[in-house]
Amino acid sequence: MQRCEVLSRCSEESDRLTRPFASDAMRRAHKLVTKWMRDAGMAVRRDNVGNLIGRFEGAAGHDVTLLLGSHLDSVRDAGKYDGPLGVMVGLEAVQRLHNRKLRLPFAIELVAFADEEGLRYGTSYLGSRALAGAFDPKDLDLADAQGVTMANAVSTFGGNPERLAEDRWSGGRPLGYCEVHIEQGPVLEARGLPVGVVSTITGFSRSSLTFTGKAAHAGTMPMDRRQDALAAAAEFVLAVEAEARATDGLVATVGQLAVSPGAVNVVPGGVVLSLDVRHSVDVVRVEHVRRLLQGAQDIATRRGLSVHSQPVDEEDSVACSPRLTSVLARAVRDLGHPTLELPSGAGHDAVVMSRLTDVAMLFVRCKGGISHHPAESVTEDDVAVAIDVLSKFLELLASDQ
Ligand code: HGY
Ligand code: MN
Ligand code: MN
Repeated sequence: MQRCEVLSRCSEESDRLTRPFASDAMRRAHKLVTKWMRDAGMAVRRDNVGNLIGRFEGAAGHDVTLLLGSHLDSVRDAGKYDGPLGVMVGLEAVQRLHNRKLRLPFAIELVAFADEEGLRYGTSYLGSRALAGAFDPKDLDLADAQGVTMANAVSTFGGNPERLAEDRWSGGRPLGYCEVHIEQGPVLEARGLPVGVVSTITGFSRSSLTFTGKAAHAGTMPMDRRQDALAAAAEFVLAVEAEARATDGLVATVGQLAVSPGAVNVVPGGVVLSLDVRHSVDVVRVEHVRRLLQGAQDIATRRGLSVHSQPVDEEDSVACSPRLTSVLARAVRDLGHPTLELPSGAGHDAVVMSRLTDVAMLFVRCKGGISHHPAESVTEDDVAVAIDVLSKFLELLASDQ
C-alpha cells in the first residue's frame, strides 16, 4: 500500500496523478520498481518499448516461465491502484519466495507494462503488444499532443524503435500469464467479497470522428444558415448515450471532444471527438458501432455538414483460460473465500497476452467500483487476501508442475 502511495507521486502533473507512456514520471516510477524488484531477488531489464521486467529464476533444470504483471502507466487524474496494484501484488508474492529462499519448478517474470491506457498516443496495450509480438510499427509515426512521435518517445526513453520486434517474448513456453487488478466495478463490494476471478474481458472499438461545418460570425450568421459543427457533435453525443441506454450490455462513451476554432464569438467550424464502444459479444458491439457511425452521417447530412470517422483501436472480447482460472479459483477457495467468477468491462493487458499464452485474472474489491478517478481505493485487508491468493496460486502451479 505504501508503495502504491509512493508511486502515485511519480506524475507529470503536480496536483494529480498522470503518468503517460515513456514520460519522466514513468522514468521515476521505474527507478523505484527496479529497486523493489532487485530487493525481491529479481534480475531487472527494460525492453525497447519500455516494459520493466523482473525475472525470478526457477529451480535448476526447468525452462518454463510464469508471467505476472500489470501496467505502470495511468490515465489523466488517475487513481493510485489501476495498474500499479497488480505489479505490487506480484512483487510481494515473489518477495515471499525470496525471503523463504524458495525456488519453484518454473521461473517468474513480473512485467510492469509500459502503456495499457494509451493516454499519450491514443493506442492501447503498447507494452503487452510488444511482448506478445503484436506491436504495429506504423504506431511509431503517431505524434502526441506536443508533436513528439512515438519513435522519438521510445528512443528518448532509452529504447531502440528499430528493434521493437526483439521485445517479443523469447523465453520458451510460458506457463501462463496472471494479472491482479482492481475490479473497477461494484460487484465484489455488493457481494461482500474481497476478490473475484475473471471469466472474460470485454472487447472494445475506438474511433475518432471529425465533424466539419463552417466557422462563422456568432453575431451575424442567422441560425437557419449555420453549419455548426459543435451543435451536430452535441446531437451525436446524446444519440450515443441514448443507443447505449437502450441496448442491454452496451456501453458507449465520448471521452474527448475538441472544438475549432474555439473562440467565444465564432460558430464552431470543426469538432474532433472520440468514441469508445463495448459489449461482451463482439458481433453486437460491431453492429452498434456501425449504427452509431451511420447516425453521425445522418446528423451531418441533415445539418449540411460532413463527418469523417477513423477507426483507432479494436480488440475482441477474450475468455480467460479455464485451466489457469481453475487453479486461481482453487487458490481462493483454499484460503477460505467464496469464489465468484465475473466479467471485466475494463480492458487489460491480459487481452493481448492471451495471444501469447493462457491468461487468468484476479480482481480485488475497490470502493464503490470507482476507477480512473483519484478516489479509487482498496483496503489493506483485501490486498492482503490478493497477495495470499497469488502466493497460493504459485504453490498450486508448482505442485502441478
Ligand atoms: O479502457 C480500459 O478499459 C482500460 O482501463 N484501459
Ligand atoms: Mn488497468
Ligand atoms: Mn485503466
